[in-house]
Amino acid sequence: MGTTARLVCRKMTVDDAEAAAALDLKSFGEVDAWSADYFFYAAQNERAEFLIVEENGKIIACAGADIFTDAAEIVSFAVDPDKRNQGVGTKLLAALIEAVKKRGATVFILEVRPSNKNAIKLYEKFGFQIVDREENYYWDEDAWIMAKEIF
Ligand SMILES: CC(C)(COP(=O)(O)OP(=O)(O)OC[C@H]1O[C@@H](n2cnc3c(N)ncnc32)[C@H](O)[C@@H]1OP(=O)(O)O)[C@@H](O)C(=O)NCCC(=O)NCCS
Repeated sequence: MGTTARLVCRKMTVDDAEAAAALDLKSFGEVDAWSADYFFYAAQNERAEFLIVEENGKIIACAGADIFTDAAEIVSFAVDPDKRNQGVGTKLLAALIEAVKKRGATVFILEVRPSNKNAIKLYEKFGFQIVDREENYYWDEDAWIMAKEIF
């Protein structure tokens, strides 16, 4: 991250929608990325919690969760390819867990591609465990369901 980089983790706003979508596109490609409209509405959805990380004012990561009564589900998580493996995802996931905890969620779940080894390592580092497999969840792959108690 460099000695002069200033990282800020904050709530996503509607003004971040375009940048969040651009980041998602870089991370997931056209088929799987969320649109700017998706992030625009997510920023205003009271049942969602979306956070971004800025480095010197530029958005370098975005993550979001939908909140249900006592459970939350990660629906989006991406770090700029140039900023990966430098602890940004760790910082963002820690902040997202705290945020959904404050909203009353006691269980955090997510879906991940079994081939996405780096993401699985990140989630396992935080104590998420593989609890199920959902067939054909993605257009080209099954998903592992991972879960973690957060109370
Ligand atoms: C998965 C992702 C969010 C991780 O973000 P990140 O900023 O690179 O994560 P961190 O640098 O905090 O690393 C977290 C852990 O992940 C693992 N990890 C991350 N990148 C890795 C790499 N290139 N090689 C090996 N392990 C890696 C390590 O276990 C690491 O913990 P450690 O450094 O304490 O050993 C990022 O790679 C990404 O945006 N991927 C594309 C989008 C994606 O797959 N999102 C998840 C969808 S479910």
